[in-house]
Amino acid sequence: MERNCTTAEKRKPASPLRRKSTNADTCSARAETCDANDVARARWTLLRQVLRQKQLESPEIQQVSVRRFATFDLFSRELLEAKDVCDTSDAQWVEYRSVHFPEYSALLRDNLGPVRVNEVLNSFDNTGNICVWPSEEVMAHYCLQKRHTFKGAVCELGGGMTCLGGLMVAISADVKEVLLSDGNEKSIQNVQEVIEKNKQAGKFGSTHVSSRVLRWDCEKDISAFEDHFDVIMCADCLFLDQYRASLVDAIRRLMHPKGMALVFAPRRSETLSLFCELAQQAGLCVSQHQQYDAQVWDVHLKMQREGKQVYDENIHYPLLIILTKGPQPFSHSQ
Ligand SMILES: C[S@@+](CC[C@H](N)C(=O)[O-])C[C@H]1O[C@@H](n2cnc3c(N)ncnc32)[C@H](O)[C@@H]1O
Repeated sequence: MERNCTTAEKRKPASPLRRKSTNADTCSARAETCDANDVARARWTLLRQVLRQKQLESPEIQQVSVRRFATFDLFSRELLEAKDVCDTSDAQWVEYRSVHFPEYSALLRDNLGPVRVNEVLNSFDNTGNICVWPSEEVMAHYCLQKRHTFKGAVCELGGGMTCLGGLMVAISADVKEVLLSDGNEKSIQNVQEVIEKNKQAGKFGSTHVSSRVLRWDCEKDISAFEDHFDVIMCADCLFLDQYRASLVDAIRRLMHPKGMALVFAPRRSETLSLFCELAQQAGLCVSQHQQYDAQVWDVHLKMQREGKQVYDENIHYPLLIILTKGPQPFSHSQ
């Protein structure tokens, strides 16, 4: 469905000028077709503008679209030259380099263009195709900080179009495998290309890195990996009322009995508390951490002091929730 929509958007409106003309065509007929073509082009432009405008009005996007505060500045972002002639897409590649661990960087495509109204209407949740949300950036930084504690099999759930956190684990930690996942097909198409690009650049060492569409509410997707992952990670996915319970269930089922889940999310009203309640009801041990990283905490305090007009802790500061099946082994607070 998503692929069809994209193709439909790229397809130019049927142009009478592209029809083979015969000698019998007169100038006036050509003028008429030119006019018709201009009108069609103008209409198409207008429609495109309306669709672009409309997509911003979608409640699904508005729910998380307060982007006045966009980043904790934990990664620098450098545009890459389009050297790769095989890459026919218009999308720009960028290098995300950790500010605090500059030896680690990933090659990303983090701008898939505007989300089209067709995609909003016809495909699954598109919030992961808009930007890398601050929680994902913070999770990626946290994973670099704690890279020595990762082992075995790691899975990112709801990673959006970059899965930056899982990618940083794949790049920096000595783990066997990393599965990058999301429920949105377009996100995962991008993530797959991101994996290829980073693989070619030799970023992953011997770690096996893969991606797939994995929906928390899809029995087939979950049962394929029951009890498999030592670490599950997830950023800014708790606000979706209709999927919160299935996210808890997916984490519980995918996590190895001795594994743990790292969940980063802002409070977003009561949504984070509701998630924690559900996790407890599902029999998981839950701990909540506010001060888990010195650099992130410093930015938070600075924004509270100096950036009150753009920064709202409730929607911008990610808390860290740790979930395990048994007692929690060590503290992730500072
Ligand atoms: C706000 S985005 C966060 C994306 C990314 N983690 C970030 O912070 O940049 C929420 C993500 O959850 C994914 N999602 C929502 N419901 C899902 C479900 N039932 N199964 C799998 N993924 C889901 C969406 O596709 C989207 O990418």
